Amino acid sequence: MKKGWKMLMAGGLSALLLAAAGCGGGGGAKTQDASAYTKENPLTIKFSHVTTADSPKGKAADKFAELMAEKTGGKVKVEVYPSSQLYGDKDELEALQAGNVQVIAPSATKLVGFNPAFQIVDMPFLFKNHDSVIKFWDGELGKKLMSSLEDKNLQGLAMWENGFKVFTSSKPIGSPDEFKGQKFRTQAGKVLEAQFKALGAGAATIPFGETYTALQQGTVDGQENTWNNIDTQKYEEVQKNLLVSNHGRIDYIVLTNKKWYSELPEDIRKAFDESMAEATKYERELAVQLDKDSEDKLRGSGKMKIIDLSDADREKFVNVMEAVYSDFAESVGKEIIDGARQL
Ligand code: LMR
Repeated sequence: MKKGWKMLMAGGLSALLLAAAGCGGGGGAKTQDASAYTKENPLTIKFSHVTTADSPKGKAADKFAELMAEKTGGKVKVEVYPSSQLYGDKDELEALQAGNVQVIAPSATKLVGFNPAFQIVDMPFLFKNHDSVIKFWDGELGKKLMSSLEDKNLQGLAMWENGFKVFTSSKPIGSPDEFKGQKFRTQAGKVLEAQFKALGAGAATIPFGETYTALQQGTVDGQENTWNNIDTQKYEEVQKNLLVSNHGRIDYIVLTNKKWYSELPEDIRKAFDESMAEATKYERELAVQLDKDSEDKLRGSGKMKIIDLSDADREKFVNVMEAVYSDFAESVGKEIIDGARQL
């Protein structure tokens, strides 16, 4: 009787410890026992991101949450925090490594501190088209890049996309000459700084969540982003000109805490992987559609002067921005630059 009671106590205690470890800890105790989680006492997963809930990333994060609840019968609850509510650009990576959040999806550029090769997305006019981008991330080179994060306790799960970047500014930006003397907001990294330097412009790294205000207050004149980010952030309210350059990419690397992930109970990890694969398929289809919808909306609104480039004018930008390659081919890596170019 006494022994049975002790065993019951020990069982209860270990279930409590397992549940506590699942509540967002950095992964201290091993969470191997799936029975620790129930509908009433679910494993909570925090998914933090910086774009709006109606952006492709936001919708796919919500989809992931929905799928996880469905596949685990409610044993897992994914809480999604959009619009930098929980963490912004500056601290979401640290929060993930510390285990304060379990999933984030930063733009590849923001991983430059871990591996400069992530700036591949910033190399001007590198990817031929959307297909080349997908082939890159789903192929050997993309996989190798993602796995380079593993020794930082980061597990790359998937590439979610947003689209090709265009420039916007409160001042004219129709030719490389017009960029001279202007200042642009960048996401992170030296490649973007060099890109603006090649155009005779200055650059300042500003978190995404603070960019609207920086544009509004004139801290910077312009920025570069996808149609959908411009639309969902309402930059048309504070920017007069948009140049359809398609010069670089916003691609997201969906990341989790490697240790935490490896300690998930097997059935939950299976549901996690399946949900991520389905959410990825959904996100990629949606991103293309939403970017097009935002383009149509912004073109139709007449709020900004939209500049479409002729082939000859585009070539002028290509030539000026080419300067970035001589300075960064080495740090970004010749193998991946050439590989991406060939796709
Ligand atoms: C940006 O900072 O401009 C983007 O990376 C934001 C995002 O997550 O799309």
